[in-house]
Amino acid sequence: MAKKIDIPWVIQDQTIIKHQLLEKYIGPWMNILYQQQARMKIKQHLMYVDGFSGPGYYWSNEQRNTTCIGSPLMVASKANFYIGQNPNRKFDILCIDKEAQCVNLLAAKLAEKNIYKQDWKVVQTQFESEINNLLDNIESSRTKLPIFFFIDPFGYSDFSMNTIKRILQQPLVELFINFMVYDIVRHCENAQFYKNMEQLFGNTKFKEFNYGSPEQKQAYLINLYCENLRSIGGAKYVMPFRVNTPNMGTRPRFYLVHASNNYKALTLMKDNMSKVSESPYGFEAIGIASGQMSLFEDPQKLELIKRILEFCEKRSQRPFEYDKIEEWAYVNTNGVSRTIKESLLVLEKENVIIIDRLPKQRKNTVTSGALINITGIALEHLF
Ligand SMILES: C[S@@+](CC[C@H](N)C(=O)[O-])C[C@H]1O[C@@H](n2cnc3c(N)ncnc32)[C@H](O)[C@@H]1O
Repeated sequence: MAKKIDIPWVIQDQTIIKHQLLEKYIGPWMNILYQQQARMKIKQHLMYVDGFSGPGYYWSNEQRNTTCIGSPLMVASKANFYIGQNPNRKFDILCIDKEAQCVNLLAAKLAEKNIYKQDWKVVQTQFESEINNLLDNIESSRTKLPIFFFIDPFGYSDFSMNTIKRILQQPLVELFINFMVYDIVRHCENAQFYKNMEQLFGNTKFKEFNYGSPEQKQAYLINLYCENLRSIGGAKYVMPFRVNTPNMGTRPRFYLVHASNNYKALTLMKDNMSKVSESPYGFEAIGIASGQMSLFEDPQKLELIKRILEFCEKRSQRPFEYDKIEEWAYVNTNGVSRTIKESLLVLEKENVIIIDRLPKQRKNTVTSGALINITGIALEHLF
């Protein structure tokens, strides 16, 4: 844990990519939800909760002569952009940090940015208690505000599966969780932290990983966490993104996990993340229960093709709609629209499937309305 005296900290590569991911997503999230509210003729009002907000800015280099902004100020800038387009819009921000120094630095910066006089607060307290207060208020006022929660602790800090579950019971929420797997493995190995780990995971299955290599332990814990987000937390859609750390081989320091109950939110997140994955930083969506899977953006990787084919083969009802395959692949694999289509085209070229397109659909793609049938021809030479 950084000493107070170090605040603000010098930014690290892994934080830069985390910020890129957040920044790439939060703009489209605001845009889509504001437009949706406009269409429904209801007040255009959104909220962002930064559960572990930090001081709002970092030193950009070891010389400490230039700064760059952290997550709350990044979101505040985007909010200003969208409110600038329509001053009737509202955007609430709640930032939580337990350190007074972080709170003081951030409060001053956020106040400076608050040019449209929005409800932007920074509170010095523990994440758990503040979030539960917020949820009490939301529940008693029956507000249906879309809220984006960014949960970005240092190493491991307290945030329980119970609280995540309560958040996910709200109608229009999304969570972006920084799962610091490297530190969590160490905590799971130490009986002193068992109680905390039980709260984090929501059960004691984390104790069952006492075998295997560090990579296997990490894979076990991230899979367990995602599984628990679904089975205990109640999230319908959970997508872990592995953020590879330079010089750490196959052991990432952290995963960013997106959880929601909305299929559109999942697709928007994956589509935007796939754009960041083309950046020089190592970054991959790993899909669900797939272990160390193929790259997001590489359609030639056979894993996605193979999984799509397996999905098609397992279904007894045929032919089936393209939309069904796309939805399954978004939820269960690392695929996004482009790579899913490309995989199907490879299968078509190899005569493994027949794509029955609607009259005006182009032959070089596959889109909504097309029907897929399998021919029974094996594709062994590809795998
Ligand atoms: C990784 S930093 C946050 C960085 C910030 N999200 C950003 O990207 O700019 C984590 C912060 O969480 C705070 N923190 C740690 N445990 C906490 C807790 N239980 N409740 C609230 N804040 C906590 C630390 O003081 C630290 O400032």
